[in-house]
Amino acid sequence: MRTIQTRRLRLVPVNEKNAHLLWDVLQEPDLRDFQDLPDLDVSQFERTVAARPRRLQASVAGRFEWLIYFARAGEGRPDEVPLGWVSLRIAERTPTTAEIGYSVVRAHRERGIATEAVAALVGEGFDQADLRLVRAFCVPENRASRAVLRRIGFRDEGVVRHGGTVEGHAVDVVAHNIDRGMWESRKSATPNRSAIRS
Ligand SMILES: CC(C)(COP(=O)(O)OP(=O)(O)OC[C@H]1O[C@@H](n2cnc3c(N)ncnc32)[C@H](O)[C@@H]1OP(=O)(O)O)[C@@H](O)C(=O)NCCC(=O)NCCS
Repeated sequence: MRTIQTRRLRLVPVNEKNAHLLWDVLQEPDLRDFQDLPDLDVSQFERTVAARPRRLQASVAGRFEWLIYFARAGEGRPDEVPLGWVSLRIAERTPTTAEIGYSVVRAHRERGIATEAVAALVGEGFDQADLRLVRAFCVPENRASRAVLRRIGFRDEGVVRHGGTVEGHAVDVVAHNIDRGMWESRKSATPNRSAIRS
């Protein structure tokens, strides 16, 4: 996994050393309203992260996560607080499809951070993991999340009945897809990004 640089942001791969920072973000009170997040203590979470694959590349299944930071000069200090996270989940039986996930902490919402970070990660998946399709699921009432996906160019594929879980309960979700062709044709309209480190 690489650090991904966008116009305003730096997406830093999550590994066993910084997993506790993601764990802290996952404790934010309203992040579980619309999505199912792991309910592990911090050391369980660190062990789970340590067992994940380290390289995002073709045919490697697993969960890949990045912490979102501002890319301002002078940042990168150990006490820097993440703005949120983005993730890709690739299942073994469908290695050319990934499901994307994301959250931004309340204090930094509505400034385009999710749009910029999710767009960068979609590009990373197509470039590095040779994906053909990226999917996203969100509950119909999560209008902010649907706006993020729409703006990036995901297509609304309609409601999947009981297609997700929130706080242990099956819920209907709206499926969103973007395939490689759609992405390529929109690429010029998305924020600049580049990987700066392997
Ligand atoms: C969804 C989430 C990641 C969006 O993050 P963000 O950084 O605020 O997103 P952006 O600023 O890039 O875009 C937000 C968009 O939603 C719109 N929006 C925000 N709140 C809205 C609301 N209540 N109703 C309708 N649209 C809304 C904004 O206008 C913006 O759309 P625009 O760019 O077309 O104007 C953030 O709200 C969040 O973390 N929510 C909790 C966790 C979550 O739901 N994660 C996604 C699970 S599928």
